[in-house]
Amino acid sequence: MKTTLCFATNNAHKLEEIQAILGGTFHLLSLKDINCNEELPETGNTLEANSLQKAQYLYDHYQVNCFADDSGLEVNALNGEPGVYSARYAGEQRSHSDNINFLLKNLSGKSDRSAQFRTVITLIQNGEICQFEGVIKGQIIEDLRGTDGFGYDPVFKPEGFERTFAEMSLEEKGKISHRAKAFEKLVDFLK
Ligand code: IMP
Repeated sequence: MKTTLCFATNNAHKLEEIQAILGGTFHLLSLKDINCNEELPETGNTLEANSLQKAQYLYDHYQVNCFADDSGLEVNALNGEPGVYSARYAGEQRSHSDNINFLLKNLSGKSDRSAQFRTVITLIQNGEICQFEGVIKGQIIEDLRGTDGFGYDPVFKPEGFERTFAEMSLEEKGKISHRAKAFEKLVDFLK
């Protein structure tokens, strides 16, 4: 018998990717599949709190076993900022490039450019909660490099690489990213 799980996303690509890894034992549903057309609440101060909040909301309001992810960039010289506020670092209506410019401004003159991307996934199955974390460490460079990817990719150079995330193919980034590592742990747990 197949186990049904809702993934708190409407990104068909993300869903397909995880479904392919999980294989035939699991049947993944998107938010649309469960008729969830509302914004999930994300008012926590940590990635852990936000991914839990989204998963808990789905579990409570839609009665489904589910998982939700939340990611952010944590910069050491900025005490872990922007972290959970990564998407809106330069303000609610700001773009990825506004966020990058704000980050570079805040880091100017600082010698420590170390940072990490982190993903936290919360899984709720029959009321039982499990969290999985993925981290990739690296450096924030001073100028933007590369055109692929999204968010802070043009200024993030992962440890052990000379290229930024934005200079890597989706496949290459997908092997080492914070998100990939967290999902690997989730998949190992589910299998
Ligand atoms: P989300 O939780 O995956 O939606 O990520 C929240 C925000 O963190 C994004 O809007 C980006 O600003 C940043 N972020 C997360 N993952 C990445 C990544 O892989 N590359 C660049 N930025 C990212």
